[in-house]
Amino acid sequence: MRIDVITLFPDIFQGYLSESMLKRAIERGVVEIHLHNLRDWAPDKHKTVDDPPYGGGPGMILRVDRMVPCVEDVQAKCPDPGHLVMLTPQGRRLNQAIVEELARFPRLVLLCGRYEGFDERVRLILRPDEISIGDYVLNGGEVAAMVVIDAVVRLVPGFLGDEASNREESFSGPDRLLEYPQYTRPREYRGFRVPEVLLSGNHQAVAQWRLQKRIERTRRRRAELLGGGWRSIWAEESGGG
Ligand code: 6GU
Repeated sequence: MRIDVITLFPDIFQGYLSESMLKRAIERGVVEIHLHNLRDWAPDKHKTVDDPPYGGGPGMILRVDRMVPCVEDVQAKCPDPGHLVMLTPQGRRLNQAIVEELARFPRLVLLCGRYEGFDERVRLILRPDEISIGDYVLNGGEVAAMVVIDAVVRLVPGFLGDEASNREESFSGPDRLLEYPQYTRPREYRGFRVPEVLLSGNHQAVAQWRLQKRIERTRRRRAELLGGGWRSIWAEESGGG
């Protein structure tokens, strides 16, 4: 998968891209990340990319005549223009289903904003897929873009050593329940014991216990994640609760 990032602050990404999982995936050719500095598309001497809003108000707005040519040039770098994503708190809120959707594209172009936002014509002309990472305000789209990259690349074949670990994760798989509790050595610590069933060697009992814990944990912490199907299974298991 190829990911292009358009940003005023490419250096924010350097640490993240040169460490750990991402670094190795890039070295192995599983993902390609290309950073582009929006300022390189400013033709004037002072390299201006923003201006105050018409009609007045606080802050600065990213100029459409910088953004659109930049995106078009970046998209033209490949035969596949890629799926254009704009990081904005006004977008649809990211979840694992959207991450899976994004992971199916062979190329993503991520557009990061700063300041008070984008000139509305950027949206009208480019029709990006607008994505938010949650209901809070960040200083810019860069951290959100890293969140998108981090979540998406895990789903690219060959990124994880063990592809199975994806399906067992919280929100993943067809049911999208939270994950079950995990234990490793020692068997007892400060009086807390590892549940007997996990030491039993009975794979069927382990699987049953884990599913029960996933439903229980999801119901207690994130009841809104349980669709009608799981509610009825829970009702059966707990005798009508
Ligand atoms: Cl994508 N950008 C900004 N600036 N703030 C956010 C966000 C994005 N998602 C949540 N808050």
